[in-house]
Amino acid sequence: MLFAAPPVTNSQIEAKVSALLGRMTLEEKVGQLVQYSSSEELTGPLLGKNPTLAELKAGRVGSLLNVVGAKATRNLQEIAVKESRLGVPLLFGLDVIHGFRTIFPINLGQAASWDLVAIEGSERIAATEASAAGIHWTFAPMVDIARDPRWGRIAEGAGEDPFLGSAIAKARVRGFQGNLDQPSNILACVKHFAAYGAAQAGRDYWTTEVPEITLRDVYLPPFKAAVDAGAVTLMSAFNDLNGIPCTANGFLMDQILRKEWGFKGFVVSDWGSIIEMVSHGNAADDREAAILSYRAGVDMDMEGRAYLKYLPDLIRKGVLKPERLDEAVKAILTAKARLGLFEDPYRYCDEAREKQAQLRPEHLDAARNLATKSCVLLKNEGALPLRAGQRIALVGPLSDARHDMLGSWEARGLPAETRTLKAALEQVAPGKVQFAEGCSIEGRQRDGFTKALEIAQEADVIVAALGESREHSGEGHTRSSLGLPGIQQELLEALHRTGKPVVLVLFSGRPLVLENVLPACEALLLGWLPGTMAGPALADLLTGVANPSGKLPVTFPRNVGQIPIFYAHKPSGRPQPEGVVREQYKSNYLDVANTPMFPFGFGLSYTRFAYKNAGLDAPEISMGGRVGISVSLVNQGDRDGEEVVQLYVRDRVGSVTRPVRELKGFQKVFLRKGEAKTLRFELSAADLAFSHADMSFKPEAGSFDVFLGGDSRAPKVGEFILRAN
Ligand code: GLC
Repeated sequence: MLFAAPPVTNSQIEAKVSALLGRMTLEEKVGQLVQYSSSEELTGPLLGKNPTLAELKAGRVGSLLNVVGAKATRNLQEIAVKESRLGVPLLFGLDVIHGFRTIFPINLGQAASWDLVAIEGSERIAATEASAAGIHWTFAPMVDIARDPRWGRIAEGAGEDPFLGSAIAKARVRGFQGNLDQPSNILACVKHFAAYGAAQAGRDYWTTEVPEITLRDVYLPPFKAAVDAGAVTLMSAFNDLNGIPCTANGFLMDQILRKEWGFKGFVVSDWGSIIEMVSHGNAADDREAAILSYRAGVDMDMEGRAYLKYLPDLIRKGVLKPERLDEAVKAILTAKARLGLFEDPYRYCDEAREKQAQLRPEHLDAARNLATKSCVLLKNEGALPLRAGQRIALVGPLSDARHDMLGSWEARGLPAETRTLKAALEQVAPGKVQFAEGCSIEGRQRDGFTKALEIAQEADVIVAALGESREHSGEGHTRSSLGLPGIQQELLEALHRTGKPVVLVLFSGRPLVLENVLPACEALLLGWLPGTMAGPALADLLTGVANPSGKLPVTFPRNVGQIPIFYAHKPSGRPQPEGVVREQYKSNYLDVANTPMFPFGFGLSYTRFAYKNAGLDAPEISMGGRVGISVSLVNQGDRDGEEVVQLYVRDRVGSVTRPVRELKGFQKVFLRKGEAKTLRFELSAADLAFSHADMSFKPEAGSFDVFLGGDSRAPKVGEFILRAN
């Protein structure tokens, strides 16, 4: 063991925490519920002054966020530990969302890899780097299901599906926390609880109205998965949910989280979301907001300063119960104890470790690997992979965009350390690459077109690096239109008019509307925002050193008018028959098909996979039984490659309407060219459970269709009956 954890058991921790709690004054207890941000790096609106050192010495601060570095955290930790009456150590938090210094693809891109091992590994590396810089706690994983690509924070999550989202949530928590027995482990914080991604019209922080069945079966499963994986903390969301802001929502934090799920950790508010209750019109003032949040189950007040100001008096006057305070303090102290901070408050403040932990070669290799696996080949009419010796015209504002490759929440990732597509192509094709920016990401200057078209004329192939900037997605970055920003579409069409094959490398933090893009390129590789190792990963894919294997974790609409559009939709009473022209009096549009531009689970490869002999091993099962589904996957192409085999199920008849299909399994499989492999899946009654009108969660007897294939349009391969007994 690299760092032998102090030998503390749960009972030892409990005894230590109870003893400490018994010595704390009311103010010191409330102090543990107070979290401030460093004002040097605000990740939300400035709400007040930085805590003074006197606050730290008085034991009136439990945690700080956005303070980074072994030295900086040690300095503050020493004040808290050596100069306060009880010496309770601070908890240092930071948004380590997709890497700390080695930046991995944005999480929507990572989800496109469907590679749980690689995703877990990325969080272990993030935790290794962040913990070496004094960070105990990350405000991640963000597990918000999102079905509206206008919402900028779709970039931070795992897309539209609760099954994939739950699997990824578990992997991330395991990666961050490990067994919480090493100072390279950090606390996870599952956010944003809950249904933040259901914002009406995709506007960030906006109203969400979600029926309880949908809340339970779509938005909550990834949170439950993370809690079951041992996540120690959660973060309450900004949005009001069905009229009650999440940060004062006892149904979420008491009924669901604590009573139904048995959660024993603690909940931190999202930046000021306690006092935002006043803006919501749910509290008359900050004092009332503090009362509502405290009663609902928020344990720590991030940046709101409401708990610090009002709780002591409210408790002294009997307005609030002191028992709730003890519960919150215990949960926070227990988290600190599990990190070993009482034995050694400086376990995470090792400057030597900080230096040697960052950007290790194996970290960069992992980032390259995950970036390679995250990219999705959406179109290829033969222009890819590039041929050796081809003269390449690299055109576009994302060709050499170090800052934008990192995406939102870049933690301590440095643009200077980003490997760009331009650098990578020039390395793999020396003397063969000419570059012209063509235009900026959002500007409307066309004077760059001339050079771009000149180099295009001299080239055999055009690689266009276009798309969104880092600032087009992420928090507070909602878009109402989803085409290429600025005049990039014009540039793309001008390039295409040269008659040279155009390979579009598309960078984005969300699904984009590609109806005008697709006709203007011969190939389209979606790179998302691929992180520090963007260039090498993309160059490997473009040149065929690597074979694209990404599959969309979210639906790409044909236009904004279709939103929300997702594969697991309900059938309705008048479903439009698939594949036929629009029928009147059916559910459809006058001006666009019902189908998306690209469906959930879609992604091409340089090879071809065939699904043979798919079938079920039983026509019916009992409530205690299991049905096996098998298929022979064959790599029929001339290249090795990976395929994500996806299993979907349809519950034909339910006491509540059921989706036309739901993802119930997947396997990412590597096959050499010509290789075949038999894959097996199993389904039990528990896999078919859903929330009923009375909110009971259980399967229902009936008939089920089974679909198996390479995306959410997978063909039906069988059916079975679930008997009532
Ligand atoms: C932000 C985000 C949240 C983040 C927190 C701390 O407002 O909503 O995801 O963890 O503040 O930076």
